[in-house]
Amino acid sequence: MQFALPPRRTPIAPPYARSSRFSLQRRKQLKAVAILGLALLTVFFLLSQLFYTSTGTPAVPAGTAGVVIVTVLDRAGFSDDYIQKIVKNREDYAKRHGYTNFFANVSDYETALDNAPRSWAVVPAVRHAMASHPYSKYFFHLDAHSLIMNPGKSLESHVLEKSRLESLMQKDVSVVPPDSIIKTFSHLRAEDIDLIVTTDEEDMCPGSFILRQGDFAKYFLDFWFDPLYLSYNFAKAETHVLDHIVQWHPTILARLALIPQRIINSYSKDSSGAAVDGVYKDGDFVIRFLGCDTDTKRSCEKELEPYYRLWVSKLKHE
Ligand SMILES: *[C@@H]1O[C@H](CO)[C@@H](O)[C@H](O)[C@H]1NC(C)=O
Repeated sequence: MQFALPPRRTPIAPPYARSSRFSLQRRKQLKAVAILGLALLTVFFLLSQLFYTSTGTPAVPAGTAGVVIVTVLDRAGFSDDYIQKIVKNREDYAKRHGYTNFFANVSDYETALDNAPRSWAVVPAVRHAMASHPYSKYFFHLDAHSLIMNPGKSLESHVLEKSRLESLMQKDVSVVPPDSIIKTFSHLRAEDIDLIVTTDEEDMCPGSFILRQGDFAKYFLDFWFDPLYLSYNFAKAETHVLDHIVQWHPTILARLALIPQRIINSYSKDSSGAAVDGVYKDGDFVIRFLGCDTDTKRSCEKELEPYYRLWVSKLKHE
């Protein structure tokens, strides 16, 4: 009979039963939290991947200009008025396209130059610009004795965009004119290129070139600025050294695009040594007054003036 009795109801569930119910609930909660945590981690991971490039370089801070225009000024050698004109011309151009200017001063590099010609300052100046703008991608060195005459052209559309650059690259031509046996590579694609430069009738032209930030750029600038070259009185200083290193070092040639002179380096009619079709024509991107500072019969300020006025009058008509 005793067995017929219904089991005594326990008013309070035994502690173990309660705790097991509790832990079941708890486990469900924990599982939810874990899933949520994992989801968040995944989102953070994906986001972090978005902001890191494939080479693992950190995200580019907002507001970083993609292009830095490097101009080397010799404040001891140029008048204030002349410097102001060059600066205004560059500032207008940078503002239009969201670029940044880096106005370097030759006097800052005197120790490094160690009595070598002052024109060498371009090399440490570009290096300096890169160190000051570590997140910018391209560095466009344009000699001070030049004006940007067609500021509507962005460097991207005019030179850098993949298909544009590939259409400009001169393949299998003598690297140093007129007939060096070393020729530009013909298999290169736009993505291989770190250095974009032109030649005139005789040499490579360091007065206007574009260099892409990165390990190659640093190696190239250090190599170019080797103390041995600095002290070796090449007749045309950094220009001849550039001629030399591009011919002797395939590692450099493999990163180099030679483009037609007038794309970034038109010479004024008073400048000698332009390549065939290298002399400035109306509508060209830039005009350079090559040699106006070294030829005692010439005057940079006088040569610049009519083109500067033309540039100003075009601005007024925009
Ligand atoms: C060059 O000198 C000018 C005027 O002294 C100065 O404003 C400018 O910051 C200097 N450039 C660099 C890169 O230090």
